[in-house]
Amino acid sequence: METTQNAGWLEGALAPVPDEIDAADLEVTGALPPELTGRYFRNGPNPLPGRPSGHWFTGPGMIHGVRLRGGRAEWYRNRWVRTKTFLDENARFVGDDGTLDLTAVPANTHVVPHGDKILALVEIGFPYEVAPELGTAGPCDFGGTLTTAMTAHPKQDPVTGELLFFGYGVLPPYLTYHRLSADGARVVESREIEVPGPTMMHDFAITENHVVWLDLPVVFDLDLALGGGGMPFRWDDSYGARLGVMRRDAPGDVRWFDVDPCYVFHVGNAHEDPAGRIVLDGVRYRPEDFAATWREIGGSANPAGDAARSESAHLHSWTLDPATGRAAEERLDDRNVEFPTHDDARTGRRHRFLYTVARGALVKYDLRDGSSSVLEFGQDASVGEAVFVPAEGARGEDEGWLLSIVSGASSAELVVLDAADLSRTASVRLPRRVPAGFHGSWIPDA
Ligand SMILES: [Fe+2]
Repeated sequence: METTQNAGWLEGALAPVPDEIDAADLEVTGALPPELTGRYFRNGPNPLPGRPSGHWFTGPGMIHGVRLRGGRAEWYRNRWVRTKTFLDENARFVGDDGTLDLTAVPANTHVVPHGDKILALVEIGFPYEVAPELGTAGPCDFGGTLTTAMTAHPKQDPVTGELLFFGYGVLPPYLTYHRLSADGARVVESREIEVPGPTMMHDFAITENHVVWLDLPVVFDLDLALGGGGMPFRWDDSYGARLGVMRRDAPGDVRWFDVDPCYVFHVGNAHEDPAGRIVLDGVRYRPEDFAATWREIGGSANPAGDAARSESAHLHSWTLDPATGRAAEERLDDRNVEFPTHDDARTGRRHRFLYTVARGALVKYDLRDGSSSVLEFGQDASVGEAVFVPAEGARGEDEGWLLSIVSGASSAELVVLDAADLSRTASVRLPRRVPAGFHGSWIPDA
């Protein structure tokens, strides 16, 4: 590992908060829709004061929660997820005998409801179940039915209610597909997927009948792992880049499509078009952009390019045609964006709108006519992922609200926007700044 770099993930908008606090009866500006009764939870790394931090991705997870009910903001609280490594600084993910402890993880990337559980997720290990009041219940392997790690980006099928996901491993099996029952009680299907090697696979996509895999050239590096401290992954030009299409009713049989080398942390959505092609959209990093981003957050020196340039990533689409075996690629916009979200009821189905985060702003894309609209919060504002919550009885795809934590240097707010026109419906004043983090969910009471 390089030791000369600045720990940029401990400063500015990413700087951790030192403790856990509670606040009640939060000040609301505007009018909170009474039907927004539930909890907004958002996860992200928050290194403990005094403990070493080698990479932004390895800090212990902290969930920031806001409770809304009947037009009021009842509370804010923030809690670390009490994983094995949080409780015991000496707990090790890789044991001396080379075996992995899938509970010795930071649980810092996402927090999602499924069935009767709320799961804090990180892609290298088991989920941790957390309570509605944010206490940690413990690691969850769904009654012993999960035997690999679980991605932080599972996809709930809007029709079956099942949770589709995968686990990747640095040891074989490198990739395993899983299907969790709609009630969250047990994994009902697990199938190994053949890939050339261990890569950092952060996300995937589903369609009505298919799963879409991203097998991209950010590979596990044993030497980096033995060095300890950071993320043991690096760019590898020789690995190639491919997207895979797998029928959901025939897992294991994957059709691969070569694509231009890139990295994708996050997909937007995917669907099948009338011609039987798979259309995927996501946020694409060119090799040099990945290098710059990776170094900025603690990654090792990277042969993919000169990391002096600033990081950037663009909304992109890939159309995979089984008839020709080829992938068509298109950049959809020149803005630098991340954290794409959509109406989860349209996961795997044709969608029209995507919501993304740009520097100091939210950007809404209309994929039907190619237009976009922007809501600026100011260059100094740290704008979080926008979670879409449909209005009761919504018919239009953007009929509902966007929830996002927008933080400044000393204070933060949960903003509630009308998703149709990005106008501000309400703001909830939070009692402290909230570090820029990863992903969150709206968890309705019903
Ligand atoms: Fe993510």
